[in-house]
Amino acid sequence: MKSYKIGVIPGDGIGPEVIQEGLKVLDAIAARGGFSVEKVHYPYSGEYYLKTKELVPESVIDEWRGLDAILMGAIGHPDVEPGLVERSVILGLRFGLDLYINLRPIKLYTEHLCPIKGKTPKDIDFVVVRENTEGLYSQIGGHLKARTEDEVALVTGVYTWKGCERATRYAFELAKERSHVNAGSRPKVTLVDKANAIRPQDIWTRTFAHVSQDYPEVELDHAYVDACCMWMIKNPEWFDVIVTTNLFGDIITDLGAMLQGGMGIAASGNIHPGKTSMFEPIHGSAPKHAGKDIASPLGAILAVSMMLDYIGEHEGSQRIESAVEHLLSTRAIPSVDTSSALSTSHTGDLVVDHLARAET
Ligand code: IPM
Ligand code: MG
Repeated sequence: MKSYKIGVIPGDGIGPEVIQEGLKVLDAIAARGGFSVEKVHYPYSGEYYLKTKELVPESVIDEWRGLDAILMGAIGHPDVEPGLVERSVILGLRFGLDLYINLRPIKLYTEHLCPIKGKTPKDIDFVVVRENTEGLYSQIGGHLKARTEDEVALVTGVYTWKGCERATRYAFELAKERSHVNAGSRPKVTLVDKANAIRPQDIWTRTFAHVSQDYPEVELDHAYVDACCMWMIKNPEWFDVIVTTNLFGDIITDLGAMLQGGMGIAASGNIHPGKTSMFEPIHGSAPKHAGKDIASPLGAILAVSMMLDYIGEHEGSQRIESAVEHLLSTRAIPSVDTSSALSTSHTGDLVVDHLARAET
């Protein structure tokens, strides 16, 4: 029997609650799919830091390289200095494992979830490829004369040819693979940047032009990030694959999550093709909802689906997505935010029950 070793980082706030449901679904799929999963739990979180003062040690990052994949909940605690644990765990994973792609599908599963009038699932089905190791997240910068009237804060945006090239190439390959989604129309890649105001971002313009030469079948498109926000609301059907910088990808995917119905359903993969990769819902730890059993676990459950697809369990991955789609369109799960009367655990149970029923 095939066996996978999966690292699990439940994290803070609603993280552990949604991860529990994700694992429930993972176990159900494994039992029926004929594979087994060995889970290795890691405690790193703000909560753990407050108790132990421990962040992620270098040796653990090495250990992570030996796993098949990692599933993470959310990191961030109101009593810990902002960014400290996020940098250690989230950026530790992204930079430490060189997970240079942050893959964020924006897919509307059923019309009533969408806040934009008249948009249906056929209009909202695109993917954001967010560069995940550079840009304004490079951690290069600091403060001079901190906390004085003369304070200077500097941050450097890093865009390397290699970083832009590999993200762009991934986006073009993905566009080719998605041709079935586009039902006959040409695949399209949209480069999103702000190279008019931030001139060094023209390295993206040039890598995009360079890579595109290898993909004559793909339609080329470009939008500045401000305009992209407008088009995502006005004409989301224009988009197929977006490739963009780390920060812009972070921002536009929260907007994208709203097109899908809310933060509760958006999932992502932090990927280095061929190497150990990490999957997580894109929402945060939402301390105000923690411990109440009201957060939607669908983002975590769809992160499990993305993880299975990545490790080669395509059928299991597909079955989870179909179950979620079915439960949302029949309104068995009425919403993906905290307004639904369904508890986190009940939502997970509904997915597991549907998986069992869909089989018989
Ligand atoms: C995300 C989050 C993180 C990011 C934070 C928590 C560091 O917003 O995964 O989108 O900015 O990448
Ligand atoms: Mg974000």
